[in-house]
Amino acid sequence: MENLPIFFRLRARPVLLVGAGEAAVAKIRLLLAAGADIRVVAPEGLDAFTDWNDAGQIQWSRRAFDPADVAGMTLVIGATGGHGADEEVAAAARAAGIPVNIVDRPELSSFIVPSIVDRSPVTIGISTNGTSPVLARRLREQIETLLPANLGRLARFLNSFRSAVKAKFDSFDSRRRLWEEIVDGPIARDVLAGRESAAREAMLSRINRRQDNSPATGHVDIVGAGPGDPELLTVKALRALQDADLVVYDRLIGDGILDLVRRDAERIYVGKARADHSVPQDQINDLLVAQARAGRRVVRLKGGDPFVFGRGGEELERLRAAGVSAAVIPGITAATGCAASAGLPLTHRDHASAVTFVTGHGVDGEPDVDWAALSGSRHTLVVYMGVSRAGSLAAQLMDHGRAPETPIAIIENGTRPDERVIVGTLESVPSLVRTAQVGAPALIVIGEVAALADAARELAFNTANISNAQAV
Ligand SMILES: C[S@@+](CC[C@H](N)C(=O)[O-])C[C@H]1O[C@@H](n2cnc3c(N)ncnc32)[C@H](O)[C@@H]1O
Repeated sequence: MENLPIFFRLRARPVLLVGAGEAAVAKIRLLLAAGADIRVVAPEGLDAFTDWNDAGQIQWSRRAFDPADVAGMTLVIGATGGHGADEEVAAAARAAGIPVNIVDRPELSSFIVPSIVDRSPVTIGISTNGTSPVLARRLREQIETLLPANLGRLARFLNSFRSAVKAKFDSFDSRRRLWEEIVDGPIARDVLAGRESAAREAMLSRINRRQDNSPATGHVDIVGAGPGDPELLTVKALRALQDADLVVYDRLIGDGILDLVRRDAERIYVGKARADHSVPQDQINDLLVAQARAGRRVVRLKGGDPFVFGRGGEELERLRAAGVSAAVIPGITAATGCAASAGLPLTHRDHASAVTFVTGHGVDGEPDVDWAALSGSRHTLVVYMGVSRAGSLAAQLMDHGRAPETPIAIIENGTRPDERVIVGTLESVPSLVRTAQVGAPALIVIGEVAALADAARELAFNTANISNAQAV
């Protein structure tokens, strides 16, 4: 983050605006909306400035800028549009340690005035850090269309009940839960629809109905985070991450996804490497049960889908056995996410009429898999956790009749910025893994459809050119 967004209280504070032309007009409007005590310095200017000055909304000194003008100001804004003058304003403000913005001159400014969506008291600032004002404007338009017109009214409504809620609900968590219930429920909808008196009545009765000191009911959502790309999260998963008190997460969860977790939520890493269980499963289960019993809303965040090689089933059983409220929010599993990213259909009317997800790693190492049943043609196999045993998997399939020249694709870090897709044939799998130094996480797609991977069109990788193994 290049700049820290903050909201500056300017009501009745002195702000200096140097310039009284077009560039200054937009700034004046913002400063007036913020209630600032506006001092303008400019030898001449637009008629609007005369009107504002005559109406007592600004104090306009009709003369050239003097560096002494910055003394005592809370902010300084330069809008002269003239080189030389801008530099002088910026230098004077900086020398006095006063935040300064020079219109369209980020290099001279110590702060940026963002694009603003104003639903006062709700205010949204958008900045592209000066890289693209047009993009900022587009974003603002999109946000404007998303937000209800009455949002400001809702904020004022909620604010009017703050002390009543504080008096009745003693813990921070119980108050937060109540506010979430209100904001997500019919009371907020009534306010937004203009039915404020009905909403007020409902709000009073909700506050009075609070159950004294009753412990909050905890809950665990076992959430699938998808294969890595944060945009592949479901809307429901995002909501759970935003509502959580605690997020218990695995190794495969990337920063982009953790960035979406509610800022105040506690996070506990329980990641596991293949042979190195950093937190044993039993302890994870105990942690989930204990935290939910303490009344917390827990998100158990897992890579891909929790029910596909994710031990989500074991966790759900344990939570249910303990009488803890629990639900599963599915995620995009690595097979479908990676296949989509590589342009590789898992089934295809011409090439594959079945697909099987199989693990390359059993409870005690070797997977317990019926290879004979999986070795037929027109059958796509997606092997999870199979890279370290790629050689023996390929040998098993070939021993049971799968053709050595069956196309394969290895997808490493699928859907992430560092995704690699390596294509070849079944018999070449062990050498491909070695030569391309495939790392985790990766899965292997075996079957005729693998030849359709985007990579396959660019680079035919087969046993003949194995020594030139490359990744795409
Ligand atoms: C313990 S399993 C978890 C699978 C997860 N529950 C799912 O539905 O995708 C971990 C394995 O999933 C595969 N995997 C997960 N994310 C992946 C990704 N982004 N790219 C490739 N493979 C991935 C790898 O085979 C990895 O070893």
